[in-house]
Amino acid sequence: MPMIQQYPIETQQETPAEPTAESTKFDFVVVANRLPIDRIQDADGEPEWRRSPGGLVTALAPVMATADGAWVGWHGAADEELGEFNHSDMHLVPVPLSVEDVELYYEGFSNSTLWPLYHDVIVPPEFHRTWWDRYEEINRRFAEATARTAAPGATVWVQDYQLQLVPLMLREARPDLRIGFFNHIPFPPLEIFAQLPWRRQVLEGLLGSDLVGFQRQSDANNFMRCVRRYLGYTVKAQHIHVQDAGGAPQRICRAEAHPISIESRELARLATDPEIRARAAEIRAELGNPETVLLGVDRLDYTKGIRHRIKAFGELLEDGKLTVGQACLVQVASPSRERVESYAQLREEVEGAVGRINGEFDTMGHTAVRYLHHSYPLREMVALYLAADVMLVTALRDGMNLVAKEFTATHTDNHGMLVLSEFAGAADQLRHAVLVNPHDIDGLKAAIMTAVNMPQAESTRRMRIMRRQIAVNDVARWSRIFLESLAAGHEED
Ligand code: G6P
Repeated sequence: MPMIQQYPIETQQETPAEPTAESTKFDFVVVANRLPIDRIQDADGEPEWRRSPGGLVTALAPVMATADGAWVGWHGAADEELGEFNHSDMHLVPVPLSVEDVELYYEGFSNSTLWPLYHDVIVPPEFHRTWWDRYEEINRRFAEATARTAAPGATVWVQDYQLQLVPLMLREARPDLRIGFFNHIPFPPLEIFAQLPWRRQVLEGLLGSDLVGFQRQSDANNFMRCVRRYLGYTVKAQHIHVQDAGGAPQRICRAEAHPISIESRELARLATDPEIRARAAEIRAELGNPETVLLGVDRLDYTKGIRHRIKAFGELLEDGKLTVGQACLVQVASPSRERVESYAQLREEVEGAVGRINGEFDTMGHTAVRYLHHSYPLREMVALYLAADVMLVTALRDGMNLVAKEFTATHTDNHGMLVLSEFAGAADQLRHAVLVNPHDIDGLKAAIMTAVNMPQAESTRRMRIMRRQIAVNDVARWSRIFLESLAAGHEED
């Protein structure tokens, strides 16, 4: 049984977990790099935890409540040990990371090796043996914490690329568990995955699962092709026949597409909140009431195609197709992974480009690009979506892109149009957006103008179809179907 440490931050919301055998074993365990909470300051400047915004937490919270669930993850601060505690009806199991762990496992292997490798090598991935060693070590730490937390026969759901070795480590320690894995980011084509010096270990790690979920069918296909090539396993109709060290059949692991979604109903509800609607009108007024508000909302990440979008917008101003005062681009770029070199460089480039365009085209009363290097609470985000006419999602590669879905879900009056990169997973579901290849700047400019000038009857028709798609396929359905498939696979065995 794990030691229950004294929880160091006093707030009213969380309760230290009872140090009894029952409270440390759970039938449903989620494992993710991050715990679903953020540390904020309350009105008196005292630290307290708040449940993170975002679909994954929302989708899993009800499952947690009904299935006696726990969440294993890092709480976001280095060199700080926290004991287990309860918050927002969830049992949280913090995994500590030192400053060096963050540098080698998180900033290094996760975000400077895997992230660029899995996103089409938009920036060159770096391969360092010290990073790999630490990635393995930290994955083991997560697997051990999970093995201690899961009840006999429990279901464990491991999330994302930071923890690809956890399924096998966990299976070796706890063969009684049913293990699912979901990859939130793309899985690369074999020709790119081939570069990874530890490609076999990563594939074997994932195959410790009973079910591996991907955003798109093409991601699942890439994975199965890599498994066939590098491990030589038979793959038939999404069933991978895993062999033991001697080559004898051992078990089946399935690879399936399960596109993630959003809390559609809640977003649509917020969109009708009078306060939020008033705020949307206020935002437009603050921008000087342009005819067309274009909007980009992204983590400041090189995968998002922010520079391509700004370039296309700048050229449209230059060409006189759009004019300042008549059109304005609002770009929210939330700070992300700022200690990683390629992110710091991207920030310089984006801010340089915005400065140049504004310097050239701004008037005393109006700006070309309103650039906001912040993150905002959900209510303000909904107001921004409502204030926008055209949403620009121009990712060069993106596992899904939930912003595209959020914009669509909030436009309950079917107003506006979405320009969507065909390289975002969301393009598989939102076929009625104006789809673009963001590398093609002329094509991107044409797509923006198509969206800006789309006759209302046409945009209404398309938005309605997309909204219906999202209303049915929400994040609760995503988690339910994944977990049903995980359970069903076990019954077949
Ligand atoms: C992507 C990844 C997540 C990650 C998030 C934020 O959506 O798929 O696993 O949590 O980015 O990045 P961060 O590095 O701040 O956790």
